Amino acid sequence: MALASDNLDGWIRSSFRAMNTELEELYFAQEDRANVDGVGEGIKKTLADEGLALVRPLVAEGNTNEGFERTFATLGNLGLLFAALRRHELTNPAREQKSPFDDASALGMHIAASLGVVPRFANVHLNHHNRAVDGAPKSFTTLIDEKIFNDYNTFSILCYQRAGDALARIPALGISNPAATLLLNDARAALDDVFKYNEILFNKLNPDRFFYSVRPYFKPYRVGRQEYRGANAGDFSAINEIDLLLGVCRGNDPYYAQLLVDKMLYMTPEDQACLRMALTYKPLLDEFVEAIDRSAKSEWFKVNAALFLDVCAAHGRAAAQHHDKLVDTFIVKKTHELEQRHMAQITASGPPLHVLIKALEKLRDLRGARPSDEFETAAGKIDAVRRALGA
Ligand code: HEM
Repeated sequence: MALASDNLDGWIRSSFRAMNTELEELYFAQEDRANVDGVGEGIKKTLADEGLALVRPLVAEGNTNEGFERTFATLGNLGLLFAALRRHELTNPAREQKSPFDDASALGMHIAASLGVVPRFANVHLNHHNRAVDGAPKSFTTLIDEKIFNDYNTFSILCYQRAGDALARIPALGISNPAATLLLNDARAALDDVFKYNEILFNKLNPDRFFYSVRPYFKPYRVGRQEYRGANAGDFSAINEIDLLLGVCRGNDPYYAQLLVDKMLYMTPEDQACLRMALTYKPLLDEFVEAIDRSAKSEWFKVNAALFLDVCAAHGRAAAQHHDKLVDTFIVKKTHELEQRHMAQITASGPPLHVLIKALEKLRDLRGARPSDEFETAAGKIDAVRRALGA
């Protein structure tokens, strides 16, 4: 007999995807594409009834300890259902004190508490822990733009992980180790690949389809009483490991520390452990700066410090691309088109758009080590290394 979790998974991969796609086509065909009220009401009801009926037996079973991947996938399936109910306005945290889906909330909280993650769907469920069946990973819809978004997000995350993994091996070896040359080269190549995949994403993704038919599934929703911020492509640890290991962001910077604490439970336990580890290392930038007096003329310094600066530049370049191209084209410019009445809850995390953009701008500037009058960046220390190289 199929397990209740398999039944939910099978439904998410078939009817759920078909109904969401049908609804998206109806919304998108309207003059006001952001409107969902009074459209496809019968489909919405079927989606909610079928999904919640499949969740009920799982609530009775609770966490059946089927191993991390399966249990985490069930949490993801439940989360995809919640996110769709939110997208179709069958629930909305702004008008409710608690989720109207008591049983489903209990299941989410039970699993999440036992795994040590948030009880909502996180981006990882659609990216690097999204098991494909017969060539098809899970998705909300069968729209090509959702596939492009998920695929290239995943590629980009995997490249960040390659870079983070390479850099995390350097502290144990030391920056003067010949093996550090190999690892810095690997990190640079991986970050160049992030840039390459983000560029393809930028060129392939249709801004209208992304904004009106994909992004709305990433909104905040309640599980039990608590409202959880929306999912975003940033909910993985490698990018922060890179920030910290390079030394362009600091764990003792109140702004950055807040960001780390806020995202901790949106990541897998494995990612949480990697991030904790990265917080204990001395930044490579500090190691290079300290080596200037002693070793600036050494061959190893010339090679590894130059490579280190290349890695920092590649990281900064990808951060600028994320902000100046992806966020600007697919969120900011589209938002300006939107009717005022749809403006609330435009961002995944909830704050007003200009606040979010300002925060993302700061990250871009930290990662790019740009000089700033408003906050400290790594610009001075990077310059010191550059000068030591005579560049
Ligand atoms: C269409 C493409 C994309 C758009 C429009 C976009 C937009 C955004 C927005 C608006 C946020 C802020 C989160 C929020 O709303 O609360 C964000 C965060 C983030 N995104 Fe993207 N993103 C895109 C693709 C990517 C890709 C491919 C990556 C690479 C893995 C990525 C990495 C991140 C990271 C790491 C964060 C967290 C903040 C940070 O540490 O920079 N994004 N993104």
